[in-house]
Amino acid sequence: MASNLLEGKKGIIFGALNDKSIAWKVAEKAKEQGAEFVLTNTPVSIRLGDLNKLAEQTDSLVVPADATNIEDLRDLFDKTMDHFDGKIDFILHSIGMSPNVRKKKHYDDLNYEFMMKTLDISAVSFHKMLQVARKKDAINEWGSVVALSYIAAQRTLYGYNDMADAKAMLESIARSFGYIYGRDRKIRVNTISQSPTLTTAGSGVRGIEGLMDFTERMSPLGNADANECADFTITLFSDLTRKITMQNIYHDGGFSSMGMSYRAMKMYNRSLYCDDCPDPEDIED
Ligand SMILES: NC(=O)c1ccc[n+]([C@@H]2O[C@H](COP(=O)([O-])OP(=O)(O)OC[C@H]3O[C@@H](n4cnc5c(N)ncnc54)[C@H](O)[C@@H]3O)[C@@H](O)[C@H]2O)c1
Repeated sequence: MASNLLEGKKGIIFGALNDKSIAWKVAEKAKEQGAEFVLTNTPVSIRLGDLNKLAEQTDSLVVPADATNIEDLRDLFDKTMDHFDGKIDFILHSIGMSPNVRKKKHYDDLNYEFMMKTLDISAVSFHKMLQVARKKDAINEWGSVVALSYIAAQRTLYGYNDMADAKAMLESIARSFGYIYGRDRKIRVNTISQSPTLTTAGSGVRGIEGLMDFTERMSPLGNADANECADFTITLFSDLTRKITMQNIYHDGGFSSMGMSYRAMKMYNRSLYCDDCPDPEDIED
């Protein structure tokens, strides 16, 4: 395993809630690879989660911020630049939440106020942090900004609801801002499209266990877990990937290129001949 890939680099990591969070694993690996960073989350998530424990473990400053609030973001970037006495090199956006999913509203019966919240928290916040960072000239040349996405941006997956629309927007923001930030400051902006992963946000997806079993069977390399996602994120923060920008990169064991696998077909066939299985007509769609 390469070491010190992030030696001397500084950053901001959004979205570590507890030790299941993908952002938590990224923070641990970034520390191992020599980075220093500021950790941030909403005040309520900091209170209910374990971020202060991670801060202690990684010797990091915690600055509370709601990523949808421009004033909070300005304050976060100011405090971070003061703390490091200069600019940063990487940002992780690991933020997602849908009130419609939480309140079990179906996609054909959405609450539109909730939907605007979903989009603001899970996608527009990415634009907001990029815009604040750029106006403050907070990122060094060849810096790297990564957000976490999901294949529901391209394909319809049962139960993912309005988060699919948010992820499509998130990936579009990476391309649109990636052009401007690359052209003006040589800063790269990418999204990683991660396998389903058992985290607090992941557990909110309807039928996550069945989905994870399906994607595991479909993916030639199997599902990617949170630690593997963190490893990949570190490479995107490192200088080894300086010409990758405006991309959505699948980190999913090959799932996105599959149509049907032998392992999934076997399971499907078994259920076709299962006497105890529920009538397909009785299964909610
Ligand atoms: N778990 C999965 O199956 C999976 C798969 C692909 C992509 N992702 C994405 O990975 C990212 C991280 O999610 P996770 O799975 O680690 O779950 P998680 O629940 O640990 O992280 C989600 C984070 O978003 C934060 N957040 C919510 N509202 C916020 C706001 N207004 N401002 C700042 N932070 C806010 C939460 O406090 C939490 O820390 C999300 O973008 C998620 O959509 C997850």
